[in-house]
Amino acid sequence: MSSPNPPIKRIAISTGGGDAPGLNAVIRAVTLSALNRGWECYGIRDGYNGLLMPEQYVEGGIMRLTRERVRGITHLGGTIIGTTNRGNPMKFPIKNPGGTFEEVDRTDELVRAFRMHSIDALIVVGGDGSLAIANVLAKKGMRVVGVPKTIDNDLDRTVITFGFDTAVGFATECLDRLHTTAASHRRIIVVEVMGRYAGWIALNCGVSGSADVILIPEIPYDLHKVVPKIHEREQQGGDFTIVVVAEGAKPVGGAVSVVEREVGRAERLGGVGEKVAHELAALTGKEARVVVLGHLLRGGSPTTFDRLLALRFGAAAVRALEEGRSGVMVALNPPKVDYVPLEEASGRMKVVPLDNDSLLTARDLGICFGD
Ligand code: F6P
Repeated sequence: MSSPNPPIKRIAISTGGGDAPGLNAVIRAVTLSALNRGWECYGIRDGYNGLLMPEQYVEGGIMRLTRERVRGITHLGGTIIGTTNRGNPMKFPIKNPGGTFEEVDRTDELVRAFRMHSIDALIVVGGDGSLAIANVLAKKGMRVVGVPKTIDNDLDRTVITFGFDTAVGFATECLDRLHTTAASHRRIIVVEVMGRYAGWIALNCGVSGSADVILIPEIPYDLHKVVPKIHEREQQGGDFTIVVVAEGAKPVGGAVSVVEREVGRAERLGGVGEKVAHELAALTGKEARVVVLGHLLRGGSPTTFDRLLALRFGAAAVRALEEGRSGVMVALNPPKVDYVPLEEASGRMKVVPLDNDSLLTARDLGICFGD
């Protein structure tokens, strides 16, 4: 009879959801930590699509990760194994002959595919959705360890996720650049940043980059409350205004701005910056411009902080497997990397608390939140 936990010989890694700077550093740490234990390491292409739709991959849906393959990738943005925010195996969209879509649970099929490839354990790098899938796979008997990832930093059980520091650093640099052009033209410049449910990016870059107004999902805004701030600045000799708005911000009593709804994936947000700029121009008579940083925040080389965190998470995930852990997520609990149950890690958003110190700092500095 085979033991329930035979020794690990071969592991796989998958990256799911939106990419974040640091994913390649995780892949490298997982690969080298596995190889140094005498294990083989494979990358599943595009989340789980490499296993669920192998026919779409000429070179195969899973790729062997060797020392050569992961050499020189720590500092690269993106993910060498690909990612997707479509094709959730729990709700996989299948097109019916009539053109309508049906969502099908393909997780049993996925578990069988892992067994067919003799994968003994899986490391899942992803956000809330990917970690929820990882939890289901763990419950179906797979050895699974999760690694939290999101530039939005909205996962509850880790102090921070990699990618966030890189995104905030880049957004802050953009705000620095926009100050001079806003001042020269005496304009309002509205900068839209990512942040679907949580305003961490907007808050942190807004305070560090000296924004005058920060609009976040946690505080529904009223632009009539922003107008006095703009006038106050004019009286104080500052004839321009920088507004940072998170994509998930919404007006009091209103809804988030949605660009697109599609079966099998979360609705695509966007457009709030344009709305805020348009309305502020109408309310103040000033010229307004919009800059949408969007996916620029997901690209580029991870900062040293994000690289180190990503490498630590990847190595800790492999140590977890070696120690016989499963159904857990690695998490930063300074100074340590801890393990928390996947059950607790998904489905809980870490939003900005209203007594958050950076938020209080912003208010002390006179930054307006539209409330
Ligand atoms: O990674 C999370 C996130 O950055 C959200 O803030 C944003 O809504 C989403 O990704 C956009 O992802 P995509 O354009 O890749 O669907």
